[in-house]
Amino acid sequence: MSQTIPDAATALRRGDLVILPTETVYGLAADAGNAEAVARIFAAKGRPRFNPLIAHVDSIEAAAQVGVMTPFAEALAARFWPGPLTLVLQARPDGPVCDLARAGLDSVAVRVPGHPLARAVIEGFGGPVVAPSANRSGRPSPTTFADAVDETGAATSVALDGGDCEVGLESTVVSLLGDRPRLLRPGSVTRAELEAVVGPLEGDAGEGHRSPGRLTLHYAPDAPVRIEATDAGPGEILLGFGPGVGDPRWSLSSTGDLTEAAARLFRLLREADREHPTGIAVAPIPDSGLGEAVNDRLRRAAGFVG
Ligand code: TXA
Ligand code: MG
Repeated sequence: MSQTIPDAATALRRGDLVILPTETVYGLAADAGNAEAVARIFAAKGRPRFNPLIAHVDSIEAAAQVGVMTPFAEALAARFWPGPLTLVLQARPDGPVCDLARAGLDSVAVRVPGHPLARAVIEGFGGPVVAPSANRSGRPSPTTFADAVDETGAATSVALDGGDCEVGLESTVVSLLGDRPRLLRPGSVTRAELEAVVGPLEGDAGEGHRSPGRLTLHYAPDAPVRIEATDAGPGEILLGFGPGVGDPRWSLSSTGDLTEAAARLFRLLREADREHPTGIAVAPIPDSGLGEAVNDRLRRAAGFVG
């Protein structure tokens, strides 16, 4: 497989798929305006067609051509872009993101990624690029190049190696469709960081308001996941957190650092899975700050509604 930024841009123009590194997780990218290319993403991931994709753009101006930037959206974009924040906006009629990518909704999710390779590809391509996480649907998002290629590389003609993803969890998703911003998916931009910019977020009004993609069993390895565990049961691997909890090889962070735990979570779930344990037990993680996003992914991996 070829590896250069111009190759990736050319592949996207041709309607091919590209493995694209971002600061959060690896994406499976296509031309947002090409319905055939977008259909190949859904097929490669085994993704339900009701689950819309995120359009990745290289500037606030480009985002404003995709969706309507409200004053709250402007404030969040000014503070967090480029970076791991996705905004759900009213889609512009005749905007550049095809119907299939939006799953037929009149809203659209958009973000400006921070990873230099992702930005260079979007710039080189010259338009919005849709990129869901590069895993097959329902599996943990890939945070290393090897895992991304392993999951969906076969469907691509170009795969760019950007090294390990710095954040390790998918972007925070915020809806700007209501009177106040609403958190649809916790991520590395925390609730407190969002509220420092826009004030209190809209309260949680249940599943109906969540992202269509927030399926209960998600981010799941093959082995069953047991959360809030204090010990490994027979045949289980314990992913620890904090000093002295479990085998350091399997610790999310032996110093109890949430940023490190977020960055290592999906990778350790995958590595543990490859050992074919009877289960993966995970030590309790504090729910503060980035812990909200880590626990959200863990509850889903364990099969609970988040
Ligand atoms: O960090 C990320 O966001 C990664 C990297 C590759 O950018 N991408 C990613 O995409 O996580 P994906 O497709 O795996 O997750 C997109 C989430 C889904 O939960 C989807 O339902 C939600 O965004 N979403 C997309 N469009 C939406 C919309 N119009 N309204 C509500 N939720 C939406
Ligand atoms: Mg995903």
